[in-house]
Amino acid sequence: MTEVPSFARTRRLRRSPALRRQVAETRLHPASFVLPLFVTGGTDVQKPIASMPGNFQVSVDRLLPLVAQAAEAGVGGVMLFGIPDHKDEVGSSAADPDGPVPSAIRAIKDQRDDIVVWADVCMCEYTSHGHCGVVVDGVVDNDATLPLLAETAVAYAHAGADIIAPSDMMDGRVDAIRSALDSTGHSELALCSYSAKYSSSFYGPFRDAVDSTPAFGDRRSHQMDPANALEALTEVTIDLAEGADMVMVKPAGPYLDVIRDVKDMVTVPVAAYQVSGEFSMIEAAAANGWIDGDRVMMESLLGIARAGADITLTYFATRAARLLQ
Ligand code: PBG
Repeated sequence: MTEVPSFARTRRLRRSPALRRQVAETRLHPASFVLPLFVTGGTDVQKPIASMPGNFQVSVDRLLPLVAQAAEAGVGGVMLFGIPDHKDEVGSSAADPDGPVPSAIRAIKDQRDDIVVWADVCMCEYTSHGHCGVVVDGVVDNDATLPLLAETAVAYAHAGADIIAPSDMMDGRVDAIRSALDSTGHSELALCSYSAKYSSSFYGPFRDAVDSTPAFGDRRSHQMDPANALEALTEVTIDLAEGADMVMVKPAGPYLDVIRDVKDMVTVPVAAYQVSGEFSMIEAAAANGWIDGDRVMMESLLGIARAGADITLTYFATRAARLLQ
């Protein structure tokens, strides 16, 4: 008889696709994906976003088929961003009940109830200077911005949004929005705060998409410093105390440690946003033939889920959901 060495053999459970599938610790499911969409005014508009292949600025009529495709692939939700016809110093079009986002919410809700409609709340798409709030003496004024955010959230609530998601990073915004929702008959409406939102260069393609690159300065006075992880837990703690029903970490891929830290601390659902730059880097490398786009897409999403994200916002949502079907 040949002597068999007695070391541990972890390869035993990796021998076949069926075995690997059986013992997988993390499983991706389309219901946990949210597809971000960019909605604009007019009709029959479908304008490609150059830096985000396969993504478009669409009018409401052209948005509906994209929502239908996502829903039919099993995607759990869509996140709406607006590109208004008109921008001014204080972003007054953000709260316009006939603006692109409220119109899109109503149109989706008229047609279907099998997909969750998230509405991003921030002033940066609506201000002429591209900042996330009212600018006073060259800086974004926190307290002057809060009523504008609250008013915008209420407009989205009236239109029928399922989840309000403030991404502005003003202090006290969850409390301001929660109070405004409660006092306008929307105490049942859920709020997901972009709690740990970093001041990230990975947002570059998004800012092209909505034309929100700040005309001067940057967002470092309100978005988080990429050097900090404990501070993310402070942000999450504050937002939960102010009434957030879910919290988000953003970006996702470069901040997997933060996703894990947050997941270990909270009992509410944790969302993570695989942002435009993460998407576009994968797309660009795949277009060059340097990586296998579908495989890297799935691996990036698996990594985010394994880190602890319950929900992933991703421009890959429909494509990844179809691959999983
Ligand atoms: C702000 C907002 C941004 C993103 C989502 N919400 C941009 C920013 O903070 O500058 C970025 C999303 C992405 O890059 O995909 N409304």
